[in-house]
Amino acid sequence: MISMHKINKMTDKNRVYIFDTTMRDGEQSPGASMSLEEKIQIARVFDELGIDIIEAGFPIASPGDFEAVTEVSKVLKNSIPAGLSRHSKKDIDRCYEALKHAPRFRIHTFISTSPLHMKHKLNKSSEEVYESIKEHVTYARKFTDDVEWSCEDGTRTDMDYMCKTVELAIKCGAKTINIPDTVGYTVPSEFTKIINTLMNKVPNIDKAILSTHCHNDLGLAVANSLAGVQAGARQIECTINGIGERAGNAALEEVVMAMKTRNDLMPYKTGINTTLLSKASKVVSNATGFPVQFNKAIVGKNAFAHESGIHQDGMLKNRNTYEIMTPESVGVKQTSLVMGKHSGRHAFKDKLNTLGYVDVTDDVIENAFGKFKVLADKKKHIYDEDIIALVDDSLIIDNKVNAINLKSLKVFAGTGEPQKAEMTLDVFGDVKQASETGDGPVDAIFKCIKKLYPHDVNLQLYQVHAVTEGTDAQATVSVRIEENGKTTVGQAADTDTLVASANAYLNALNKMIIKRNKTAPGMEDVKIKNKKTEKMRGI
Ligand code: KIV
Ligand code: ZN
Repeated sequence: MISMHKINKMTDKNRVYIFDTTMRDGEQSPGASMSLEEKIQIARVFDELGIDIIEAGFPIASPGDFEAVTEVSKVLKNSIPAGLSRHSKKDIDRCYEALKHAPRFRIHTFISTSPLHMKHKLNKSSEEVYESIKEHVTYARKFTDDVEWSCEDGTRTDMDYMCKTVELAIKCGAKTINIPDTVGYTVPSEFTKIINTLMNKVPNIDKAILSTHCHNDLGLAVANSLAGVQAGARQIECTINGIGERAGNAALEEVVMAMKTRNDLMPYKTGINTTLLSKASKVVSNATGFPVQFNKAIVGKNAFAHESGIHQDGMLKNRNTYEIMTPESVGVKQTSLVMGKHSGRHAFKDKLNTLGYVDVTDDVIENAFGKFKVLADKKKHIYDEDIIALVDDSLIIDNKVNAINLKSLKVFAGTGEPQKAEMTLDVFGDVKQASETGDGPVDAIFKCIKKLYPHDVNLQLYQVHAVTEGTDAQATVSVRIEENGKTTVGQAADTDTLVASANAYLNALNKMIIKRNKTAPGMEDVKIKNKKTEKMRGI
């Protein structure tokens, strides 16, 4: 991958830089919060995917965001980490503090420039905003020569004023100028005009890269981003699965594959290894608990499925009849029968490699292999998807000592009787039992957990997916809970949907306990530590 210091000297005028904001704008989707561990896992996958710049958060927004940007900036090998800041010296300082661990980093600073935002949101005149650009872009440049400036609500900004502010930001040292369609209001023809005008009227535009940042309120984010590139922009800001504020941002996988597939019309290059797109989509979906819609372009479950007889017939004769890109080009492998209960550790490890899990720790492999053996006893056919679910499940619990663990579960369900669950939990080292009835078996299970570990959280989401087809398929359950404005997502997979439900809820609860203790260390924190030490000593 080309490092950022070379970007402005690039001779390849058709290289388009991919700026991912899944962990910043994407996390602004209501309920899409990601834990630190999940962000680090995502960052590693993004780094491998070939994303040029990764916006890991808004460091001043919360201690959690600050920590995430800090840790992400330490693990990236190729991608450049970026942090967001308003026009405030404190924001910029905080950004620098979080990013300084990386050999190269980007400070992204923004202010609104539309009449509506300047008057009603900022209560500032256009002259004051102009002065603020001078002051804050110049200030950010003290920390790095890689400064990006954004004019928020750009597409509703007066064009002459935008040209003046862009010229000023470049003069003060911004190397990237981002034009956000903050409210997803523009259309391709209008956005083309905006980028064209900037390219033609801003005298120093050759000293910066123009960037698009399009929201999807009208379903036009990808089309607008591509129109921007065709007009001269050379950076696209986007998110995996298109997650983001309200209707989301331009989907990274879509803009990248559109340029690759229609390279005859859009002769642009990115540094993305497209065969990892499917993996990136899964990692983000798992971390956020946001499922990918079945018919989602590029990464949806049905994106390469051919149901109708006519289509299947055509595909058998020549794949090009109904396929404009291959599933392999985005990392989708045909479902294959892979392994059975006699497969050993070595074959399992090999399989993980072919599925793209190249740098997982031995602990994760060992944990996943144990689960694989249990699954192989229960389930006749084990598919790639089953193995992916097992490893993802093991990655979630890697590096964590859970405060609460499920020891056993019995559920009585069916017609006539009230549904009942009997459960044994290990709660901070104490083994406890309870039994509860409920409005359905899942309700009974969650009530048992609440009885054994009293807590007060709101259940925001409970979702079940079958990993593969058939009645013996594994179920992946996602649970999102909320407590005092903080949310966590728990996930678990099992052939028994009710066991997966209990484990997913406990996974979310264990994460909440860790989150709680980070802000207010208390007795539980001490107990977790003690338990960890005991484990390490083999007690
Ligand atoms: O949508 C937007 O305007 C933004 C900016 C902060 C870049 O996300
Ligand atoms: Zn945005």
